[in-house]
Amino acid sequence: MVYQRAQKAATQKTKHKLFDIVSRSSAASDNMVLDVATGMGTFLAQLLEKCSADASIIGTDIDEKPLRGLMNKTAKAGTYPKLSLMVADAKHLCFQNNAFFTVSSFFGFDNVSETALAFKQVSRVLQDDGHVFFTSLWYEEGQRVCGLLRNVGLLRSPVKLHSRKHWTGQGLFLTVWKKRILEFGLIIRWTCYPSMETSIGMLSCMPTSPNTEDS
Ligand SMILES: C[S@@+](CC[C@H](N)C(=O)[O-])C[C@H]1O[C@@H](n2cnc3c(N)ncnc32)[C@H](O)[C@@H]1O
Repeated sequence: MVYQRAQKAATQKTKHKLFDIVSRSSAASDNMVLDVATGMGTFLAQLLEKCSADASIIGTDIDEKPLRGLMNKTAKAGTYPKLSLMVADAKHLCFQNNAFFTVSSFFGFDNVSETALAFKQVSRVLQDDGHVFFTSLWYEEGQRVCGLLRNVGLLRSPVKLHSRKHWTGQGLFLTVWKKRILEFGLIIRWTCYPSMETSIGMLSCMPTSPNTEDS
């Protein structure tokens, strides 16, 4: 219960931080954002409220249903003109190389199986000086939450978690995230935890080298 409350508070805090940093990044560049695994748009709906009228926000998800929900929600709120929605698998993004300066995801990568392939795509569509900002669940050995989760059987053994195939609905150790991110063309600029008590954190990454791959 206490953990759940802490996690809820940390989620809210992270959402605001992500919102702040993504809106600043897009306002300082081309006023565009590509959001990955947008779902019902808990994050995007708020971003749309705050960004300028000429902003262009692209929401993508593998599932059409939550995107339809977001379409209805934003149509009611009057923010739909700034939004484009697209059914797209994060592992096969249908955008050209270097198309975006700002990419975001609010607990999206956690849910993509073979997360590394999604990072590879993000690295490809990002401009060389662009950024991806995302929130995620992760753990660091020694963090208090690891002990709590182990006690209730919710944390899998590090051995299993390090397996390449494991996907991340329940969170990964930060070492595993880092490995995946670096392996697929992104470099971590910073990480932050709103609270060391929970497994929620945020990362900012940039491409490691100029894009040379085919779109
Ligand atoms: C926790 S929700 C994301 C929440 C959302 N970002 C928000 O702000 O409300 C996870 C989403 O990941 C999507 N997803 C899972 N696998 C995916 C994939 N391969 N490509 C794109 N989206 C995927 C799911 O359909 C789901 O909508």
